[in-house]
Amino acid sequence: MNTSYAPRQWSSRFAFLMAAIGSAVGLGNIWRFPYLAGENGGGAFIAIYVLTLTCIALPILIAEITVGRMGRQSPINTMRRLVAEHRALRVWMLIGWGSTIGAFIVLSYYSVIGGWTLKYIELAVSGAFAGDTAASSAEQFGVFVGSPLQAGFWHTVFIGATIAIVAGGVSAGIERSVVILMPLLFVLLVGLALYAVTTPGFGEAMRFMFAFKLEDVTPGTVLAAIGQGFFSLSVALGAMMTYGAYLEQDVSIGRSAVIIAVVDTIVAITAGIAIFPLVFSFGLEPSSGPGLTFITLPIAFGSISGGVVIGTIFFLLLAVAALTSAISLLEPLVAWAEETYQITRRRLAIMVGAAGWLVGFATVFSFNYWSDFFPLAPLGLMVDKTIFDVFDFSVSNIVMPVVGLMLALFAGWALTRETVVAALGAERARWFSFWRFMLRYIAPLGVISIFVANVLM
Ligand code: PHE
Repeated sequence: MNTSYAPRQWSSRFAFLMAAIGSAVGLGNIWRFPYLAGENGGGAFIAIYVLTLTCIALPILIAEITVGRMGRQSPINTMRRLVAEHRALRVWMLIGWGSTIGAFIVLSYYSVIGGWTLKYIELAVSGAFAGDTAASSAEQFGVFVGSPLQAGFWHTVFIGATIAIVAGGVSAGIERSVVILMPLLFVLLVGLALYAVTTPGFGEAMRFMFAFKLEDVTPGTVLAAIGQGFFSLSVALGAMMTYGAYLEQDVSIGRSAVIIAVVDTIVAITAGIAIFPLVFSFGLEPSSGPGLTFITLPIAFGSISGGVVIGTIFFLLLAVAALTSAISLLEPLVAWAEETYQITRRRLAIMVGAAGWLVGFATVFSFNYWSDFFPLAPLGLMVDKTIFDVFDFSVSNIVMPVVGLMLALFAGWALTRETVVAALGAERARWFSFWRFMLRYIAPLGVISIFVANVLM
């Protein structure tokens, strides 16, 4: 194993928090959460989300960061080391491989969507939304994603930026960019939310998001909340394990994880407060999923005065959120490569990133050349899913639940109580027993229930 690479360590707890919050806050917060909340009972969904986040995703997040800090390496080598040191079963190494490969796959398509956000900054700046109607906005989006050249170009720019940051290393690359980008993101978001408060649709938007509609709550609501919590906290794709590996022993993981979860949730709710008043002010449809961001909102930006500025800020916000998440998706594999080969990080970041760039074209083409190609249909599986859909479905419904479950079982059952207490250091606080109980019993049951429901239903 190569050990000649530059030391990888956050220079402060603040740097770690910005990087981890940067990973957590992403496309999942800004378009997916508000839309899910509106569709699934508003305030009732938010209450269920907070409850399941606390009982399932948060305990696993603490476990993931802790495991990372115990191994101090990339997820693959961290798991290899812990399995050897604790004479655990080799199957636990699936946590390392599964999460790293999952992160690479997500990176490939996340970058394509990141490219969309860049294209939309350009459209917003140039006033292209002016006078948009539902039909023209949908067409504008269709023409863009329908063009392999256009979508491929912006995907290239986005992943190029991701590579450039990761190539700089943990402190000179990742840390230096997140400590600027994350505060920028908060300022943009608060600015947008303050603007939204002044629009006529504000009251209706608040009722849509926060009314406690218990009648809209179904078993599916609970499952959606659990799945969203996982994705939103970046659990089970190795990102948080890798970031944990660069963390000092004296930082409290429990407290940090709570901060990450609280900020992530506040950002998600604030995003809803920023978006829905615009949607309602123009009598638009709040429940259009991915189209909400790229089709519905441009109509609003095209009609309001100052829409050029507001639209630009919005897509800039989205791009920043996506970029800081993409960094954390590239880092696990680059970290492993750095430990494995006598090659500089710069070169490795370019090589791994170029591979992600290439795989990303499968997603670019899923919206044009290959939009009717359903790769798993011959096997009778996922018959109407493009390559992009297959990637997205497999990671969210298979890789994340399986790795998340294994993390809970590994830290909750395979490692002894004493080992985990020692790993958490001075933190043997009151929450320890509560956390360990959640990790051993509640989180596994929760994950198994999403898994069974998603795959079988
Ligand atoms: N948490 C990110 C989001 O909400 C997605 C992500 C998942 C990023 C896993 C890294 C790892 O968009």
